[in-house]
Amino acid sequence: MKSIKKITISGKKVLVRVDFNVPMDGHQNITDDSRIQAVLPTLKYALDHNAKLIIASHLNRPHGKVLPEFSLAPVAKRLGRLLEKDVKMAPDCIGPNVKALASGMKTGDVLLLENLRFHLEEQKNDDAFAKELASLCDVYINDAFAVSHRVNASVVAVTKHAPLSGAGFLLLNEIAYFKQAIDDPQRPLVAVIGGSKVSGKLKALGSMLERVDKFIIGGAMANTFLKSRGYAVGKSKTEEDLVEAAGLIMKKAAERGIKFYLPVDAVVARRFDPKAEIKTVPMQEIPLNWMILDIGPATSLLYSEAMYDAKTIIWNGPMGVFEMDAFSRGTMAMVHNIANSYALTIVGGGDTDVAVHKARETDRMTYISTGGGAFLSLLEGRILPAVAALDEAEEKQTRPL
Ligand code: 3PG
Repeated sequence: MKSIKKITISGKKVLVRVDFNVPMDGHQNITDDSRIQAVLPTLKYALDHNAKLIIASHLNRPHGKVLPEFSLAPVAKRLGRLLEKDVKMAPDCIGPNVKALASGMKTGDVLLLENLRFHLEEQKNDDAFAKELASLCDVYINDAFAVSHRVNASVVAVTKHAPLSGAGFLLLNEIAYFKQAIDDPQRPLVAVIGGSKVSGKLKALGSMLERVDKFIIGGAMANTFLKSRGYAVGKSKTEEDLVEAAGLIMKKAAERGIKFYLPVDAVVARRFDPKAEIKTVPMQEIPLNWMILDIGPATSLLYSEAMYDAKTIIWNGPMGVFEMDAFSRGTMAMVHNIANSYALTIVGGGDTDVAVHKARETDRMTYISTGGGAFLSLLEGRILPAVAALDEAEEKQTRPL
């Protein structure tokens, strides 16, 4: 990927694809602007280098419908405050009106295009739509790591039509940190994997078998592994059809000498409800009709010891239902333990990021990824389609005619 730094942007119309898919409270108020903050270095760089800045993003999943609640207008306001500049909101992302707005831009102007997903063509990677988007600019920059695992027109097909394509600082950073952690890690490399479903993480676990020294497992997905080891997990959530696959992963890990840690105790409740009766029990003593909703204190201690010598830690997925205070201790302990470690720490995945914010430990992590699905795709060992598209564009741009 060619960095924005290697492209002449002065006086040019620079279209920066970002991921402003930010959480809103239902009344058009942004509840977390981390994804906006994360691309400021690229946007400021473009403005400092006299570009005419056109910004494109999706918000939520409107599936081709123009839904006012998914307009990017609130983002334009927040971005304006952060950039200390007027950010003009375009009525759409393509079409003659938008083209006219782009053509009339002066150096230092900022134009935010309306939600790309108001057009079905965006998610279909439609070539004509991509061509229209590309026609707005002289230079296309992708700084939307969090959507770079999608084969969408504004991150893939657009690179075929833009005169010049490159990557912004966020995308470059995300890939660089990830590579440092997984391709050439300081060892021991510990992968902490949690979350609710094994099914969503199976490929990632398989791919990481080739690389990690230790696996630490938490969240409801641990139940399926526990079941495979013969534990009775009461009425906890499990994926019956994956018990065998979970066993196979543990077998392969053992064959490779990878340490595989599962919870040794749990916080259990009679119902999925913080007001229900709750107790902490050893894993051997999960009552018949109770469910596991968090790892217990002995597990937190064990996991902290297991991470003690880590030089690199990758974390994806919470240890329990941390959204409810009663079941948040395991995840909060994991945040603090990782923050306290001397390892290079990379955190990724929507919920994990929320947990780190909740524990106010963002500053003590080496890197917090802005990607959920995109981060998981990297863990699965996939090359992100948008990154492949940028690499291809760079190759074309440098190929002799
Ligand atoms: C995300 O929030 O993970 C990205 O913006 C991608 O969104 P999507 O899952 O709707 O494609």
